[in-house]
Amino acid sequence: MDGKTVYSAIQPSGNLTIGNYVGSIRNWLGMQEEYDCFFAMADMHAITVRQEPAELRRRTLELAALYIACGIDPEKCTLYVQSHVPQHAELMWVLNTIAYVGEMERMTQFKDKSQKHADNINMGLMDYPVLMAADILLYQADLVPVGQDQTQHVEITRDLAVRFNNRFGETFTVPKALVLKQGAKIASLQDPAKKMSKSDENPNASVYLTDDRDTILRKFKRAVTDSESEIRFAPQEKPGVSNLLTIYASFTGKNTEEAEKEFAWKGYGEFKLAVGEAVADKLAPVQAEQARLLKEKAYLGGVLAAGAERAYKTARKTLSKVYRKVGFYQGE
Ligand code: TRP
Repeated sequence: MDGKTVYSAIQPSGNLTIGNYVGSIRNWLGMQEEYDCFFAMADMHAITVRQEPAELRRRTLELAALYIACGIDPEKCTLYVQSHVPQHAELMWVLNTIAYVGEMERMTQFKDKSQKHADNINMGLMDYPVLMAADILLYQADLVPVGQDQTQHVEITRDLAVRFNNRFGETFTVPKALVLKQGAKIASLQDPAKKMSKSDENPNASVYLTDDRDTILRKFKRAVTDSESEIRFAPQEKPGVSNLLTIYASFTGKNTEEAEKEFAWKGYGEFKLAVGEAVADKLAPVQAEQARLLKEKAYLGGVLAAGAERAYKTARKTLSKVYRKVGFYQGE
């Protein structure tokens, strides 16, 4: 271990897709061997858009089970629920006072979500990046593995860390985003120009980690390709086919050239079936393990309690330093 700290989180809202799996959780597995890792379920971020309370609760536990089923080891890293550690909201408040309204209004995700949820442009939605900065800075993280769409939030986190340090003295580690290339861009099966998303309205666009084998095979069978018949990796000219090759490669551990060779003389039908099978084969044991864990409520509860306790210890240290720096009276 070289002493580096890694922080990342996933919102327990919506169904995770194979894009989330390849782009996030799976990449974290190697990191837990090397670094001091904190992985959270960002339920406080989730409520910036309307959530069904019972569903949010259920999804939080499902996400915890999924992390573990994928191989995240709660002995090796700190796995916890964001709302269990009160310092996130507390640090957010202090950071709010150095974050400018203008810079928050300019955030791409805020603008997108404001459009999508025009009837619910709440303060939390605008404050989302500040909460994320609080998450990261509380643990003095060096590295933040995220998808491309979250890099702007890591940038603002860096800005806030530097601004605070300049104003109040060295307090926060300035983190770096770690954007993973392989599998970072899995596209929609229905529109390969778009990212595969948890919240796509077209149910055939995304493959969810909870999809059963038949559903997975059906979605791949319907995946949009092109009017040619050649299986070749060429993201510009053949985005649909290239996306399927990327998925195949990600789920088999091969590279896209190897995948291309394997299917060189095959038809699209056979190709799509093989991609679907590779995905279904890989997900089956993860799904079985997740289901098994979800029956072990006491075990999961214990893991999350221990995680929150560990997170709390680090978070408390950072927050009391912050409170001292900004001039909150904390006794003589
Ligand atoms: N906003 C992230 C997402 O939707 C989730 C998240 C919350 C996060 N807090 C974080 C990611 C801190 C990295 C670090 O994907």
